[in-house]
Amino acid sequence: MKSPRWLLSVCCGLLISLGQTGLSLAADMAVKTFDEDQAANKDCVGCHINVTPGIVKQHLDSPHANTKKFEDEVRCHDCHGVEHKTMEDFAKSEMPTAETCGECHKKQLKQHKAGKHNLGWMVMKSQIAWHGQPGAITEKGYRGCSGCHKIGQKGLMGVTDGNTEAELKYDGGKEASGYRYGNAQCDACHTRHSFRKSEAKDPRACSNCHMGFDHPQWEMYTSSKHGVVWGIEGHLEEERAPTCQTCHLMEGNHEVRTPWGFLGLRIPTKENVLAIIEVAPSLKEPLTTLAAALPSGNYIDVDDDPQWTLDRALILQAAGVLDASFQPTERFVEIVVQAQAARGPEEFNELRTQMKANCNKCHSMGFVNQHFKASDEIVKAADHEFAKAISAVQGLYKDGLLQKPEGWKYAPDLLQYYDAKTKIEQELYLIMLEYRQRTFQGAFHVSNDYMHWYGWAPLKTAVNTILEEEKRMRAEHE
Ligand code: HEC
Ligand code: HEC
Ligand code: HEC
Ligand code: HEC
Ligand code: HEC
Ligand code: HEC
Ligand code: HEC
Ligand code: HEC
Repeated sequence: MKSPRWLLSVCCGLLISLGQTGLSLAADMAVKTFDEDQAANKDCVGCHINVTPGIVKQHLDSPHANTKKFEDEVRCHDCHGVEHKTMEDFAKSEMPTAETCGECHKKQLKQHKAGKHNLGWMVMKSQIAWHGQPGAITEKGYRGCSGCHKIGQKGLMGVTDGNTEAELKYDGGKEASGYRYGNAQCDACHTRHSFRKSEAKDPRACSNCHMGFDHPQWEMYTSSKHGVVWGIEGHLEEERAPTCQTCHLMEGNHEVRTPWGFLGLRIPTKENVLAIIEVAPSLKEPLTTLAAALPSGNYIDVDDDPQWTLDRALILQAAGVLDASFQPTERFVEIVVQAQAARGPEEFNELRTQMKANCNKCHSMGFVNQHFKASDEIVKAADHEFAKAISAVQGLYKDGLLQKPEGWKYAPDLLQYYDAKTKIEQELYLIMLEYRQRTFQGAFHVSNDYMHWYGWAPLKTAVNTILEEEKRMRAEHE
């Protein structure tokens, strides 16, 4: 796509840069007039055609350099500033943030900021397991957790950053300033320097992050009938099968959020908690206190019963989100309230209703309801198995067969991930982050193999191993 403008920019730019052997013509002032604007751009392009030819080509072929109106053309310095002009002073160039894109794309910025992706960095840092890692794993460079989680905004302060109020705070750019690269967020789906809508609409654009161990949505999607049909017919104008974007960025809305969320948990309602007292009267006192702090309401679709609420309470306890007497901890504040890892009834119901209406564009409502009911029931069944395993390990701590490791606040602690010290707790961690996730995520994404053979089957194996190991440890202790 070599437009005349492409040639114009490169040719003039080359002449200018040859003429000054690397020194910029643009005056030492901020770009103000259209002519100056053009001149600065030619400098960048003219020098960079040699320095980073790939970037220049991508930019000149992109929608930004080929806008409908000539005056709207987006130039290198719109995103990188004008301070850097020579071969040597490139450290003066600025690296864009989402706000830079937002100067021209207000709507998308606003939606993105309101959504779950914006919290990505903060949720990563909310994990005790992250703080326990050596610098090679956590520092700049984006090779592990941070490589995917940089889609979130840096500098959002939760409890671990010393902000103990329930409201999330922003440090005004302090944390981001310590990182030269990786603050653009929007380039997670619209990669530089072509910044295309078509790229972001392709489900493969999500696959570098939404894959693998604990969230194999890409693998589940491509092994579902939806993904298979997309694979066969995917590049047709009218898509018969939905993509990730059809279901999660409906009408181009950048605010991604799902009812169950990553952890497949919900905030228990007042009614949920009070109902447990009937099955576990000995817990009346702590449960009444807990209920007072919770929202009132009902979850649509989901067939809540007291056993399930109790199972979920045990999971939250093993994650250190509820303490030994079922009271919310600082993790509840940081992970559930600030990082929004679980939804209350109002939000859950609204998101679920939207999601179903979207399926209803292609399927009947009866079909859709049945799918959601079946998938909700899977979360319930998985939680019940998980809770059995948790109780067994909690019992070992209570009876002194396991000792709380030094420096740990809670034990067992699912959020210590693979730093768990015993075989039995390693199994528990795998249930939480691998098997249970695959079981329920596979159900919702209609991947039968992930739901069953990569999810439920190893989940059951791990529960059996834990119960067997508990028996062995008790026998040895006697
Ligand atoms: C005279 C040549 C020249 C001009 C003019 C020039 N650059 Fe550069 N730029 C460089 C060189 C050399 C580098 C370093 C490349 C490398 O490390 O491989 C660089 C690096 C950069 C970087 C990356 C910095 C980093 O830390 O990784 C950006 C962004 C950049 N230039 C943008 C611009 C913009 C925008 C303009 C116009 C306002 C511009 N450049 C004008 C030569 C130039
Ligand atoms: C100076 C204003 C400006 C800035 C800054 C800017 N854009 Fe754009 N962007 C535009 C214009 C203008 C268009 C093209 C509209 C048109 O087609 O005429 C566009 C188009 C787009 C498109 C749609 C392209 C397509 O395939 O149709 C995407 C995606 C996009 N921009 C993303 C970004 C991202 C990401 C950033 C930040 C890294 C960014 N923009 C920064 C002005 C800007
Ligand atoms: C391959 C990319 C990738 C890596 C590596 C990665 N994550 Fe994630 N993480 C994701 C994605 C994608 C999600 C959202 C998954 C979902 O909702 O199903 C996520 C979700 C999370 C959540 C849950 C957020 C919530 O609100 O429910 C936490 C916490 C988290 N990651 C922490 C970490 C930590 C800590 C590490 C490193 C030890 C890590 N992640 C490594 C991609 C990654
Ligand atoms: C729409 C905004 C936008 C425009 C226009 C733009 N860039 Fe960039 N550029 C980015 C983003 C986003 C990054 C990634 C920043 C990061 O990782 O923090 C980047 C990174 C870079 C880098 C360093 C990283 C790398 O991959 O080497 C260079 C060099 C660079 N740009 C040069 C240019 C040049 C030259 C032009 C004009 C031909 C240009 N950019 C136009 C947004 C833009
Ligand atoms: C999670 C992936 C993802 C991220 C992150 C993302 N986008 Fe998008 N963006 C999309 C998708 C998908 C579309 C196409 C939506 C549609 O038309 O259905 C899109 C479309 C756009 C468009 C074109 C809108 C139009 O209708 O022409 C612009 C502009 C844009 N995004 C800007 C941004 C900006 C700015 C950011 C950062 C604040 C951003 N995007 C972050 C996925 C993403
Ligand atoms: C750079 C990595 C990355 C890319 C690319 C990416 N995501 Fe994400 N996504 C994440 C991370 C990390 C989280 C967890 C953020 C959090 O919990 O705050 C997440 C969370 C989500 C969630 C929220 C789940 C919940 O908790 O309710 C949805 C939905 C989602 N992503 C969909 C998408 C879609 C669709 C695409 C592609 C258009 C995409 N993402 C591209 C990293 C990515
Ligand atoms: C047919 C619609 C559909 C498609 C296609 C789809 N999803 Fe989902 N997704 C769902 C439903 C339904 C849920 C669960 C909703 C709930 O919580 O009630 C979900 C949940 C999620 C979640 C939250 C955790 C989980 O897995 O339950 C993430 C993240 C996510 N999807 C990402 C993706 C990505 C990435 C793709 C593409 C590779 C994709 N989805 C394809 C419908 C879809
Ligand atoms: C753009 C249209 C479209 C949307 C939106 C859509 N689907 Fe589908 N769905 C299809 C097509 C096409 C098939 C394949 C039909 C077949 O199996 O005969 C399919 C198949 C299915 C199947 C059967 C898979 C099997 O193995 O038999 C289920 C279950 C399903 N969809 C659920 C959903 C749910 C739930 C949603 C919303 C979260 C949804 N779909 C959204 C088009 C869509």
